[in-house]
Amino acid sequence: MSGSAGEQYEWKNIDKLHTEEAVRKTLRLGVLISGDGSNLQALIDAIAQRELPGMEIALVVSNRADAYGIQRALQQRIPVIYLPWEKRSAMLSSGADMSASETKLTALLQLFQVDLTICAGWLRIFTPAFVSQFPRRLINLHPALLPDDGIGNTFTTSDGTVIPVFRGLHVIKQALAAGVKVTGSSLHYVMPEVDAGPVICRAEVAIEPGDTEESLHERIKQVEHRLIVEGVRISF
Ligand code: GRF
Repeated sequence: MSGSAGEQYEWKNIDKLHTEEAVRKTLRLGVLISGDGSNLQALIDAIAQRELPGMEIALVVSNRADAYGIQRALQQRIPVIYLPWEKRSAMLSSGADMSASETKLTALLQLFQVDLTICAGWLRIFTPAFVSQFPRRLINLHPALLPDDGIGNTFTTSDGTVIPVFRGLHVIKQALAAGVKVTGSSLHYVMPEVDAGPVICRAEVAIEPGDTEESLHERIKQVEHRLIVEGVRISF
């Protein structure tokens, strides 16, 4: 399917595993953020415009108190919680398989009866123990192109070019440094491995001469605002 601004969209056929939830009246979304929250806003707007029928945002969680996304949630009277995130070193030294922050987050998601959790600009890595609680109920927006199964180190773009898969920190900078002509964004199910997991949908974005990390990220975000809405619609 082609996007209106020339982006290439691909939608994956994901098994509908959650029959019980599919017939339930309202699907309750939890949105995890760390910053601006423009993708949270895209979901808020889509729900307001009835583009996500039967869905509501039950809870927003931010690991940063100064994340602007908190204000976006408050403006809509959506429950929002600041949850300071434990340092990885503290967790590792405790010997636990899940961090104290993850235990709190798990309790919050249960308390607010969240059906599907969306990492929308969430900049913290989860432990395998946390992830394994939410098979196909935890999804992530990753500002680079991931292969269908979410694993592997190369991706073939729509024009047949093979490019590296960018994961981890500063993936937009990584794409610019690699000199690729196309990058994009992928919405995928979260697996224990970082930035890996079956792709729900993704979009390509052309890199233009003179692009900076900021200019490219801005164009990727514009695409993501549609991608996240369509992906959430088909993900559950
Ligand atoms: C998005 O580009 C997302 O892909 C990445 O962080 C950015 C978040 O943007 N993980 P925002 O906070 O939704 O504006």
